[in-house]
This record gives sequence, C-alpha cells and structure tokens, in this order.
Amino acid sequence: MTRTSRVNLHPLRLTRTSDAPIYLQLYRRFRDAIAAGKLQPGDRVPSIRSLASELSIARGTVEQAYQMLIGEGYFLARGPAGTIVSPRLDGAGTSGQAHHARAYTPQSARQQATPDETEPFQFGLPALDAFPRKTWARLAGRSLRVLDTAAMRYPDPAGYEPLRHAIAAYLGISRGIVCSHDQVFITAGYRGALELVCRTLLQSRDVGWHEDPGYVYARDFLLRAGMNLVPVPVDDEGLCLRTAQQQADGARFALVTPTHQCPTGVALSLPRRLELLKWATRQQAWIIEDDYDSEFRYHGRPLPALKSLDQDDRVLYASTFSKVLFPGLRLGYLVVPESHIERFRDSARHLSGPGSILPQATVAAFMEEGHFARHLRKMRVLYAQRQRWLMDALAQTFGTELSIVKHAGGTHLLAMLPTARSDRDFAAAAQSHGLAVQALSRWRVSASNPGGVLLGFANITGPEHARVLARRLFDATRTG
Ligand SMILES: Cc1ncc(COP(=O)(O)O)c(C=O)c1O
Repeated sequence: MTRTSRVNLHPLRLTRTSDAPIYLQLYRRFRDAIAAGKLQPGDRVPSIRSLASELSIARGTVEQAYQMLIGEGYFLARGPAGTIVSPRLDGAGTSGQAHHARAYTPQSARQQATPDETEPFQFGLPALDAFPRKTWARLAGRSLRVLDTAAMRYPDPAGYEPLRHAIAAYLGISRGIVCSHDQVFITAGYRGALELVCRTLLQSRDVGWHEDPGYVYARDFLLRAGMNLVPVPVDDEGLCLRTAQQQADGARFALVTPTHQCPTGVALSLPRRLELLKWATRQQAWIIEDDYDSEFRYHGRPLPALKSLDQDDRVLYASTFSKVLFPGLRLGYLVVPESHIERFRDSARHLSGPGSILPQATVAAFMEEGHFARHLRKMRVLYAQRQRWLMDALAQTFGTELSIVKHAGGTHLLAMLPTARSDRDFAAAAQSHGLAVQALSRWRVSASNPGGVLLGFANITGPEHARVLARRLFDATRTG
C-alpha cells in the first residue's frame, strides 16, 4: 500500500528572505527528506494543489519543484494515480548525506532503474512533463468507446488506415513529401521500419553505408540482421559521399539522417543530397532516410525531407512518434515507393506489425483534430528554451572545458571535450552519479576522432534546474 508522506514542509521553513527561491527550497526539502529516510520509496507526496494551498504558495511554484524532482528521478509521476517517491531509490539507505550521495550512484541507479523513469540528460526522450496527458486520455477513451466491429477484426498489416491518411496529409504539408496513404506503413517504432525494409528489399550480407558517428541502435539492429555495414565519416555537410563511393560504390543501401544528423546535428547539404540521389539511381541502391526529429528546428527555416527530392523512388522514408509524442507508444512509420506497395504488404503480413489498433486510433484522432500541430508548435518553443538553459548552464559551469556544438534543432546537445580527455571515462563518471550522459565514441566506429558527450535537454524544467544539473555533472566528472 502507498504511504502518504508526512515530511514537515511547514511554511516557516520556506523563507522568502533566503537566497534561494521558494521552489528551490521546496525541492531541497524533499530531496533532503528522501536522503534522511523521512520519505521512503513508494510514499505518495501531496498533490500540487493541496501542497500549494497548505503552504499558501502558488501552484506554479510547487509544480516547478516537482518537475525538478521528477526530472532528477526523485519522484515518479503516475498521472491520475498521483506522484510518489521513486521506487527506484529503494534500498539505498536511510540516513544523512551519505545516503544522499549513495542514492544517485550508478549502481543504485542502474540496478534499480525501471524503464518508466527518466535520468537527467537521458538521450532521445521528449519532454514528458509537457505531454498533454488529459487530451490524450480523453482521445484514448473515446477511441475505445467508438471502436466499431470492423475495427475489432484482424487489422490491416500496413496499420490503421485513418492514421495512414493522417500521416500522408501531414507529410505533404510539413515535409514536402507527396504520397498516398497506401504508401504509408505503420511500424513498431523505427526498428520496426528497419525490419520491414530488411525483410522486403535486403538480404543478409548486403553492403550498406552507415554514418560514422551514427545512430548506434540502428547500426546494432542492422548488424544483427546480417548486414555488412561500411562506416562513412560525417563532416559539416553531413555524410562524406566521396569517401563512401571510394569505399563501397556498389553498396546496396545507405542509411542517413539528412535533416539533423544523429548525433552531430549537421544537415546534409543540398549538393550532397542530389549526389546521393544520383548515386542511388545509378546503382539501383536504396536510401533509408531516418527523419526522426526533423520537427524540432529552432533556427532558420525547416529543411524539407530528402524524400521530397526523390524523383526516381529510391528513398524509403522512415520516421517515428517517439520524439514528437512519446517512445512508450512504439509507433513509427515507413513510406515506400508506390511500385513496391504490394511487396511491402506481403512482408508486413508475416511480421508482427505495429500491434493493437487502439493507440494508432488515438494518434490518428490526435493528428486529425489539430492537437498534434499544436503540440509541435508548443514543443518547438519549449525545446529552444530548454536547449538555451542547458547551454548557458554548461558554459557558466565548465567555461571553455566543454565546447558545445551548435545544433539547429533536436533534443540533445553534443559537447566536445579537450583532446586529452576520454569521453568514455567522462560519461562513466557521470553515469556513476546517476546522470545518463553518453560518450560520442560509443557512437563511432572509427577511433580517430575527438571525444564528446551527448546530453539530452528535453526534460530540463528551468534555468535553475539546468544549473543544478550542470553542477552535478561538473562535480561528478571532477571526482570520477
Ligand atoms: C536517430 C534516431 N532514429 C530513430 C529514433 C527512434 O527510434 P524508435 O522509433 O525505435 O524509438 C531515435 C530515437 O532516439 C533516434 O535517435
């Protein structure tokens, strides 16, 4: 049973004359109460509304403190079931500052990590605090209620048709891609799209270009699928085509992130886009375009998808709802050439596909009724702000020790380290303090390039939160 917290948060202890703002005092009070064992893992904490009323402070102030505590893994928000002290902290000791340090060591964090919690700087996670849960719950409930008998039968292997219509319409407007819903296949995330491509068009031992550094999970997936990957370096114009052609001109496919190269953030230049398309046509090769977070671009005009330039139907366009909605959905999609629809349908029939139609129906309603466009607009503003907070905090804390690569978009920063410093050691030290920092070298195949770290910023809830995290990172990487 959930225990309700009895920690003393009396207003006398929160003082307006202190140097720290009220939300920060509140944040520290909860953090210290957890460290001292006064609040136990699983304990329910008061709702924002009741705590604000009890302390006679604004709800926004309590919310700010709670967001920081959630963002740092101290609290777990469970929607209507209320917020509790994270069960992940269980068994981490009960008294004093020593416990405080221990609760955030990598061992305790890693051993007790559950997939439903965020760690600071976690890569690839959207702003979970800003997701419109109420709207989502309403649409999900409605999708369930209005489910007709037709929708209860075995689903179309290509996915829920209204969602495929909504995606085709969205791609036409936002990504410059002209396609019909028949070309759209709903998949179990990006990996589902890769699986569909592998099963339909590729064969084991096929040679494919892969960006270096590049999305490590796609690389792992393709290697396990038996592909023969050729790492191709990336410079400030994206994939180095010349090198790729010198190394393996006869490759069967190329896997690229043209809008926002993952993880360096550069865009594939127009001359290289055209060159890449020309190569694919000449070689009858496939280009797999991973457009995973193109919606989030904060400077300059949005870049159209590579697919929008594809006259000869050589591009397989893949995207995901993991960044624009949430990864737990496990929904992505693939746009295939018109001439290959039947082949894809045939292989989709033999794969597990995107699963239940209920979440697909909810996404369709979310898109059709304008919530999706509104959510993206809101997130663009929010992420630009969160990116700025983290950049400022890192600059203040680390000075010139970290050099931040300017990204036009995305939800993570790439910070380069001084040449002599190992990024794996830096990341390991951070991880050992519960910070989910990733080493750039883990995303590289070649060993020759300088080290850096990837820092997700989507769940940083304010400038003070950014400063606290930057300081934690600094201290963690100082002491090792
Ligand atoms: C480069 C890249 N592609 C695709 C994805 C999405 O993958 P999935 O749909 O499996 O969550 C991510 C997620 O972080 C990513 O970073």
